[in-house]
Amino acid sequence: MSQIPSNATEFCAAMVAALLLAGCGLGDEALEDVDPGAVPQRVTYEAHVQPRLEYYCVACHNPHGSLGNAGGWNLSSYRLVKASFASLEQAALVKQIMPPGGARRLTAEDAAILRQWKRGGFLQR
Ligand code: HEC
Repeated sequence: MSQIPSNATEFCAAMVAALLLAGCGLGDEALEDVDPGAVPQRVTYEAHVQPRLEYYCVACHNPHGSLGNAGGWNLSSYRLVKASFASLEQAALVKQIMPPGGARRLTAEDAAILRQWKRGGFLQR
C-alpha cells in the first residue's frame, strides 16, 4: 500500500508532462499572439485577404486545379470567400485543420488579419 502514493505522484507528473507536450503540439503557434500594430485597421479582400488565401488555400480550393474545389469549396472569388467565411474561420482559425497536412500554415498575423476583415464587415476594396 505504501507504493500507491509514490506511483500516483509519478503518474500525475507523467500526465502533466504529456499534457504540456500535447498542448505545445496543438497548432504551430498560438494564433492569438500577434502585435496589434501588424494588423491594418482597414482590411480589404483585394489588398490583404485574397493574397493570403491565394498563398495558403486556393491551389486546392479552385475549380481548375487537380483537386477541383477540394471538399466542394471554391475560395477563389470575393463573393465565395465572403459566403464561406464562417466555415473558413472554423477550419483555418478555430480547428486549424486547414491548410491540411504538411501544407504551409497560417501565421498569427494572417489569422488576425482575417479576423479584422470580418470585424470590418468584409470590405472588398
Ligand atoms: C493541399 C490542399 C488544400 C489546401 C492548401 C487547403 N485545403 Fe481546405 N480542404 C482540402 C480538402 C481535400 C478538403 C476536403 C476534405 C476535408 O474536409 O478534409 C478541404 C476542406 C476544407 C473546408 C471544409 C472543412 C469542413 O469541415 O468541412 C474548408 C472550410 C477549407 N477546406 C478551407 C480551407 C482554407 C481556408 C484553406 C487555406 C487557409 C485551405 N482550406 C487550404 C484541401 C486543401
